[in-house]
Amino acid sequence: MLERIEKIEAEASAAIEAAVDTTELEELRVRHLGRKAELTGILRGIAELPAEERGRVGGGANRARKALEELLERRAGELDATELEQRLAADTVDVTLPGAPALPAGHLHLITRTTRQIEDVMIGLGYHVVEGPEVEHDYYNFTALNHPPGHPARMLQDTFYIQSHPEVLLRTHTSPVQIRAMETQGPPIFVIVPGKVYRRDSDATHSPMFHQVEGLAIGEGITLADLQGTLEELLRAIFGAGREARMRPHFFPFTEPSVEFDVSCFQCEGSGELAGGERCNLCKGQGWIEVGGAGMVDPNVLGFVAANGYDPERVQGFAFGMGVERIAMLRHAVPDLRRFFDNDVRMLEQFS
Ligand code: PHE
Repeated sequence: MLERIEKIEAEASAAIEAAVDTTELEELRVRHLGRKAELTGILRGIAELPAEERGRVGGGANRARKALEELLERRAGELDATELEQRLAADTVDVTLPGAPALPAGHLHLITRTTRQIEDVMIGLGYHVVEGPEVEHDYYNFTALNHPPGHPARMLQDTFYIQSHPEVLLRTHTSPVQIRAMETQGPPIFVIVPGKVYRRDSDATHSPMFHQVEGLAIGEGITLADLQGTLEELLRAIFGAGREARMRPHFFPFTEPSVEFDVSCFQCEGSGELAGGERCNLCKGQGWIEVGGAGMVDPNVLGFVAANGYDPERVQGFAFGMGVERIAMLRHAVPDLRRFFDNDVRMLEQFS
């Protein structure tokens, strides 16, 4: 009987040592120490053995069971540890892998990108970016910009007014920030002003809200020739090397003289004709495309900030303004300005 016990123990020990995973180990535990196991049967039958054998067989069987139990426990610990390690290795998440499906990163809106491009060029020329409120006071939007009372541009239908405060409105241009900037900083001043503006307008090329960029340069001895050079630098950066800038006489209450400025057409190279001889559709055969308004800042405007060092007898300069949507539409052949604000990603993601 003792020999048999030793054999059972030896076989079971070898199997337990060789077990490859915890499932197999559990099977071995049931087979060798479970209710139907041979060793369990021997232990159960001890009472029936002759008295002189009981001590030795019982002792041997119990020792064998204890040894196997200890072995099982040790192997369980070892196999648990390896299995945990394997799971950890298999579960590693590579955070550098793209998502599934890869998540689009998104990009800036074309209007923002165009605005920033203009800002970058002007920053390169030494200008600072400043901003002003969209809900503006009549004083900044009109009065200080030399629109005398009764001037047609002040008519109510030209913008959106706050009903309870008729002197408060949504600004119709970024020009009020000329005044605000000069109130906070004396001359010389070189600022560029991006921002939203509002008008009572709505069609394919006008939206009640759109974006402008304003430029203002005031100092001693600044002339219209400086405006021409600055516009040429800006227009070439936006529309390509070799572009020309052209100024045409115009009228704005806050500049004198006032101009509208054009860029030579980048589709027909300013000739007004396409390769096949037909009329250029972009500039309508003109060779020039209108971009914005500008002029020498009217001394009356400087008069409103004279206390801040803007003596109209001593300093002078220019201002210009242009619509960002218009520039983006021209450059990317977008036919309808409203598409910028429909928020249809199929449209917007073309400009990533
Ligand atoms: N504010 C004018 C507009 O919105 C543009 C402009 C700016 C004209 C600066 C002259 C000087 O039409």
